[in-house]
Amino acid sequence: MSLLFTPFEQKSLTISNRIVMSPMCMYSAQNDGKATDWHLIHYGTRAMGGVGLILLEATAIEKRGRISARDLGLWDDSQVPSLQKIVDFVHQQNGAIGVQLAHAGRKAGVDDVIVAPSELPFNQDSPIPHELSVNEIFHVIESWREGARRAKEAGFDVIEIHGAHGYLIHQFLSPISNKKTDQYGGSLENRFLLLKQIIQAVKEEWPKDKPIYLRLSAVDYDEGGLTLEDTLNIARMAKAEGIDFIDCSTGGISPLAPPVVFPGYQIPYAAEIREKVGIATGCVGLITEPAMANEIIGNGKGDLVLLGRELLRNPYWALHASALRKRKEFEHPIPIPYERGF
Ligand SMILES: Cc1cc2nc3c(=O)[nH]c(=O)nc-3n(C[C@H](O)[C@H](O)[C@H](O)COP(=O)(O)O)c2cc1C
Repeated sequence: MSLLFTPFEQKSLTISNRIVMSPMCMYSAQNDGKATDWHLIHYGTRAMGGVGLILLEATAIEKRGRISARDLGLWDDSQVPSLQKIVDFVHQQNGAIGVQLAHAGRKAGVDDVIVAPSELPFNQDSPIPHELSVNEIFHVIESWREGARRAKEAGFDVIEIHGAHGYLIHQFLSPISNKKTDQYGGSLENRFLLLKQIIQAVKEEWPKDKPIYLRLSAVDYDEGGLTLEDTLNIARMAKAEGIDFIDCSTGGISPLAPPVVFPGYQIPYAAEIREKVGIATGCVGLITEPAMANEIIGNGKGDLVLLGRELLRNPYWALHASALRKRKEFEHPIPIPYERGF
């Protein structure tokens, strides 16, 4: 029995297999953050390809929080219908679908004024961000709340809070970018406060029976940055606030890259968080082989396997993986019109 094709249940959501499309910015929205036919076909094809859960790309909860002018957005009610169309189509294919809510903070690339916990640029070429005051932080949290409400209205099954890759939440978590002297800076508990209040605001809008995921960068790859020990504590505090799942990535707070990258290089972090915190985790990073994905699930290193670039190359990865094994065990059937191809 291939464990990759067993369902995964959390709260009222059952994902038909363990294969997840990792969030990937497509920079293909119109300037108003609305999804286009291109997004419908892009995500729809992966759903037809048997992916259990599709996580939509980083979707901005504030206009000034966009990485580019062509990011998807949920900062305005008018953006809901274009996403609802994608949700409905994925559901028709028996797929589950989530949205990654995001704010790029000092890594935003559209407006003249960018915001961050402290006046520290990402690198030498980046602009100096405006330091968010306590009152301004309150407004940012309200934007997350509104984003969650709109995600609910669009019918998503999952919200993933983007707390990784050096974007706003990560900027607050990491001592590299957060030099605040008020209640949002200093100790790890203080640096966690923004994320805590965002989780609380999201929970007030989001249906209680639907899971909330959190993407974290487990390590900063930079001296003075977050260590795995810090991340274990962040995950513990996040779990206590009601986070159901840690999607485990790394890096992004500073220009330093991981020293070595190889297939599955981030898996040990997800495995340790899963074991020590007792929370479901997702493994991501250069995972391309069904056997490797199956091993992750079988050996309990993660509960879900996220594929990024491999699904850009091959939207039918899950169908091919399923064809390697007995068809009847496959919970997510090959679309009938495609059967002769498999
Ligand atoms: C084109 C592209 C866009 C990405 N955009 C996002 C994003 O919006 N949010 C995010 O958390 N990660 C993003 N990532 C990172 C992926 O989700 C994933 O973690 C990374 O590519 C490693 O997985 P892979 O080796 O399977 O591609 C992006 C990666 C790529 C290649």
